[in-house]
Amino acid sequence: MTDQRTASVPTGTGAGGGTDLAAVRRRISTDVVGRERELDLVLAAIAAGRDLILEGPPGTSKSTLLRAITGHWGIPLVLVEGNADLTPSRLVGHHNPSRVLREDYSADNFVAGPLVQAMRDGGFLYVEEFNRAPEDTIDVLLTAMAERVITIPRVGVVTAVPSFRVVASMNPYDNVGTTRLSTSVYDRMCRLVVDYQQVDAEQRIVARRAPGAAPRVVIDAVAVTRATRVREDIRQGSSVRGAIDLALIVGQLCAMREIPIPGGDAQQPPRDLPQAYTATFLDAMTIALSGRIHLDDLAAGNAEAVLTEIWQDHFLLNPAAAEPG
Ligand SMILES: Nc1ncnc2c1ncn2[C@@H]1O[C@H](COP(=O)(O)OP(=O)(O)OP(=O)(O)O)[C@@H](O)[C@H]1O
Ligand SMILES: [Mg+2]
Repeated sequence: MTDQRTASVPTGTGAGGGTDLAAVRRRISTDVVGRERELDLVLAAIAAGRDLILEGPPGTSKSTLLRAITGHWGIPLVLVEGNADLTPSRLVGHHNPSRVLREDYSADNFVAGPLVQAMRDGGFLYVEEFNRAPEDTIDVLLTAMAERVITIPRVGVVTAVPSFRVVASMNPYDNVGTTRLSTSVYDRMCRLVVDYQQVDAEQRIVARRAPGAAPRVVIDAVAVTRATRVREDIRQGSSVRGAIDLALIVGQLCAMREIPIPGGDAQQPPRDLPQAYTATFLDAMTIALSGRIHLDDLAAGNAEAVLTEIWQDHFLLNPAAAEPG
């Protein structure tokens, strides 16, 4: 079987349709904070015509990278969530049942599913939580990846536009209700592991996504959120989404309670901050983070108690303003 994939940059209708990959990469990077190496590797794999699997916990820029790439190329990003309901026919498409009753089966009354949409439009099919998809659905995907063509009964042959790619993602900590992907799946895809951002990148992400948040709030929100990821009693901590929400909520709570936010001096130890601010910060942590931390089965206490400990470590004990690297 010849390899139908094009080893070139997708040529969409957008501004990124050129072949100067370095220039494209520079433009795309303006939409992404940090992640230079990951962007290089993902772009190189895609430009080489390969399909890709991204493995990383929630909030580690997987969707952000793909949205930036497809946005600059002007090609669709077709999202589909891998779960038990993602049957082959949901992935490929189905015939409209009421029209079938009236008109019989035809190509005309076929409703394209995400795979066929992405193939026809030359988009990226982004399958999140790939390892939750049923095995027969993964098999359909593997065929589409290998052949770049699928045959649909009573519709005919759908040939992928050359820029069609399959990108899958999965959370390595997620092992309930998932299947181990077989070696034959891994053998057909490139793979990139993405981990949590560095502290400075995470602060820049929060500053970008919570515009108007004071620098002090950004530093504290990122520090306590990162602390949720290193505790023994937490199975999975909060992603950067928790830090973003926390920064936004602290701002609103302080405004509502007319509590001044301390100045932006990053060197000021958290334990020297005014008690009114730190107490409000704890309230904000409860609402922003308690649902986002998943306690270990053996953990004593509940999420609120664990968050209070993290708050104490940061604001009462921790002498440093921000954790190192
Ligand atoms: N590198 C980044 N640059 C700018 N914003 C980012 C970056 N990484 C994450 N974000 C922000 O954090 C949020 C979560 O990131 P993203 O959606 O990319 O994570 P993900 O890896 O796709 O997570 P999930 O596995 O939960 O889907 C985004 O909505 C975005 O606002
Ligand atoms: Mg995502």
